[in-house]
This record gives sequence, C-alpha cells and structure tokens, in this order.
Amino acid sequence: MLNRFQFARLRGFRRGKKRAAEAEEARRSREKNEAAALDPSVTREGLPGQTTAGSSETPLERSGGPSGRRSGDERIEGLLRRHQEQRGLEAPESLHRSNGGAAAPASPAPSGAPAEVVPVEQAVKTSTEADSGAAERTRIVGAVLPAAPAPNGISAPENVTKTARKPALEPAPAEQRVRLVEGLKATTTARVVCIASGKGGTGKSVIASNLALLRARQGERVLLIDFDAGLANAHLLLGLAPPHDVGHVMEGTVSAREALVEGPHGLKLLAGGVGRQSLIDPTRRELDRLFKALRPLEDDFDLIVIDHGAGLSYSTVAHLAAASTLVLVTNHEVTALSDGYALYKRAKLVNPEIRVGLVVNRAPDERLAMDAWNRFRGASHKFLGHAPELIGWVPADPVISQAVQLRKPAVLSFPESAAAKAIGKVASWAPMDHARTTTPFYVKARRALR
Ligand SMILES: Nc1ncnc2c1ncn2[C@@H]1O[C@H](COP(=O)(O)OP(=O)(O)OP(=O)(O)O)[C@@H](O)[C@H]1O
Ligand SMILES: [Mg+2]
Repeated sequence: MLNRFQFARLRGFRRGKKRAAEAEEARRSREKNEAAALDPSVTREGLPGQTTAGSSETPLERSGGPSGRRSGDERIEGLLRRHQEQRGLEAPESLHRSNGGAAAPASPAPSGAPAEVVPVEQAVKTSTEADSGAAERTRIVGAVLPAAPAPNGISAPENVTKTARKPALEPAPAEQRVRLVEGLKATTTARVVCIASGKGGTGKSVIASNLALLRARQGERVLLIDFDAGLANAHLLLGLAPPHDVGHVMEGTVSAREALVEGPHGLKLLAGGVGRQSLIDPTRRELDRLFKALRPLEDDFDLIVIDHGAGLSYSTVAHLAAASTLVLVTNHEVTALSDGYALYKRAKLVNPEIRVGLVVNRAPDERLAMDAWNRFRGASHKFLGHAPELIGWVPADPVISQAVQLRKPAVLSFPESAAAKAIGKVASWAPMDHARTTTPFYVKARRALR
C-alpha cells in the first residue's frame, strides 16, 4: 500500500502529465490555426485534415488514444485506484471516463487569449530547442498567464529624448548636427535597435546597414554590430575590410573599441566573424564574456543597430530579452511571414515590453505588401492579443543588388531609387528615438543569459 507521500507524488505526477498533454495539444492546435491565418491559400475553415480544438476527443485520445497510453500510465493509475479504494477515496477523475472516452472536451485553443509569459531566463534557456516538443513542454509547464493581454505599445520609456532629425535622405550640415545624448551621456547609454527575422535572406543586413548609415549621416554617433554569428556580411555591404571582428572580442584578443572600423559618415562597424565555430555555437559563458566586453561601447554611441542572423539563436533571444525595439524584417511570402510570426511571438514572450515594428521587404508591389501585413496583423491579434506596428514596406528593386555589387549601400549609391526612399522611411521609425533605458542594454542581456 502506498503511503501518503507516495500517493501525493504519484497523483501530482499523473496530473502534471495530463496538464502537459492538454497544453501540448492546445499549442499544436493553435499553431495550425496560426499557420492557416498567415497563409492566403488556406480557407478560414482550417487546414485540410486539421483537428479542431473544440472536438470532443480527449487529450489522451488525440495523443494516441487510450489504447496508445503507455504502460507506465496504466501502472500509475492502477496504483492510485488501488490506493484510493483501500482508503475509500474518490477515484481519479480520468478513471471515471477511462472506458467510455466521454471526458470533458479538450480545452480549446486559446483564440484571442494572451500569450503565455515565462521568466526570461527559462525562455532563453529553451530557445535553442526552438521547435522541439521538449522546449515547448518546459515552456508551458513553467508558464504564467497574465491577467490581461500585453498592450501593443510599451510603457513610457525612461529618459525619453526627443530627436530633431533631418529628412531621411538629406545630409545634415556638420554645424547643425544634433548630438542626442549631449549632457545626458554621463547617466544614459546608447539606444539599441535589433534587426531580426525568422527566415534567412529577408534583407536584414541591407536594411540594417542602410538604416545605420542614414542615422549616422544625420549626425548621430551610430554603431552597427554584425551579430550574424559566423556568417557576417555587413562589412561587405559597406565596403570595409575590418581586421578584427566579434570573434576576436569574444576571445579577448582585442577590446571591443579596438575592433571597430569606421565607415561612411562616421558610422562605426563591429564586424561579425566569418566561419568561426565559436561564433556559430557559443557557450553561455562565451556569450556572457562577449556581452560584458561590448558593454562599454554603449557609453560611446547614441544608437547601436544590431544586425542578427536569421532565426532564434541563443544570442538573438538574449538580445531580444533586453531590447526596447525590434525591427522585424519579413518578405510577403507565407514562409517568411510564418517564421517572422514565430520570432515575434518569442520576442514578446521573453520581453513583453519590447516595441516591434514590421518591415515587409522585397515586396513586388504595395498590394502584396499590405496583404502580407494584414495577414500578419490578423494572426497576431487573433492568437496573441497584440500585434506589431507596420513601419513600412520596401519594394523589390534591382538597385539593391547593384549596390551590393558596388559595396556601397543603396542610400548612398542610388539615393533616388524607390528602395532607398522606402528605407529612409524605415530609418525614421520614431520608437528608435526613445529606445533608451537607465539599465544598460548589455547588462540586461547578461541577466537574460542567467
Ligand atoms: N528590397 C530589395 N530588393 C531587391 N533585393 C533585395 C532587397 N532587399 C534585399 N535584397 C537582396 O536579398 C539578398 C539578401 O539580403 P540580406 O543579406 O540583407 O538578407 P539577410 O536577411 O541579412 O540574410 P541572412 O539571413 O543570411 O543574414 C541580397 O542579395 C540583397 O541584395
Ligand atoms: Mg544578414
């Protein structure tokens, strides 16, 4: 016979498994619906063969049915039943319905429900397992459901500084240049904007390098950090050949300041490493060392633009956990939208305060760009209860590729082109002017690693 403690443990274990199975099922169902909402080729009724969340199947049936239940479960339930019979207790609820399968319906996919929020550390720790069941289970078990959906905007930022900026493509005369942190430098650090995407090749580096350049031309002290671990190319887009990169800083060969190179209009670049294993798969300790080394740079600049690699790497999620603003770059295709949505969801999970702006890059025309935006916004509102804001769309323009060949960003080489003008609009996204907090960015990013 089980003693009281063994009984409590077994019951807790069984309940935990049941809850995890239900949560897993709800998550799967929600993800199918999210995919359908982003894909114009799928009707509103859902994907072919899709199991609806509100079906009368029990979670157990949907995850293999009673016959698919593992022997361990049966053994545990048997033990519990025997124990309860011996003690005259009520049988476990699932035993009442075990033969008929007429259990209460599964909890429906939380359409319109707020996203689960987990402690940053936990979410960061599970981020590298992005789509594995194990990661999701960990996430759901540790979830904290907020009482109300996270608002789209962020709470009033600390130390908001108004920026008197010039029109995006017009260089400011040197004497009129505005130093944003003059007088505040001793107490505040650089504003940081992360540029990321779910899918690769959406145009992050093109947007990041042009945006950084436009801001530098307006008189801000701008640093572009190429954080595309191991596959960096921002230096090529800017026509620079830096002797050092992020990898050297991580190894401690040079200081972060020594690794910087100067580009057009005084823009500084910290290049990413190319083909370095340590950058492709850094350990937590290595990242912590790197973040610590990057921290002093925040005192030297007004704006730091971070160009990330595609997807949800450990370092990207740590950055997102600390960032105030994220420029999410997508294309109009469903694959890019779906991956971008996953990144948006994760960003809000690890950092509900983050302000996210969407750029639909390389769009064939405005109609397709707006259609993509409407689908993204619709799915976000429906399944997360909030959505990013649209910063703008950039047309697919051959001058971008020519500019890459010339190693001179389009805003300099083809300033009158449609793409350069559209990127100018992206560069004037107002939240980037307010993305400052009293706690330095890399202090927060280091905390997120723990
Ligand atoms: N608006 C545009 N019009 C035409 N071509 C574009 C546009 N934006 C980007 N491209 C092209 O798309 C390709 C990928 O761009 P980029 O390297 O910026 O993508 P990325 O998102 O940084 O890729 P990765 O995920 O590998 O870092 C480049 O060859 C670039 O010339
Ligand atoms: Mg890139």
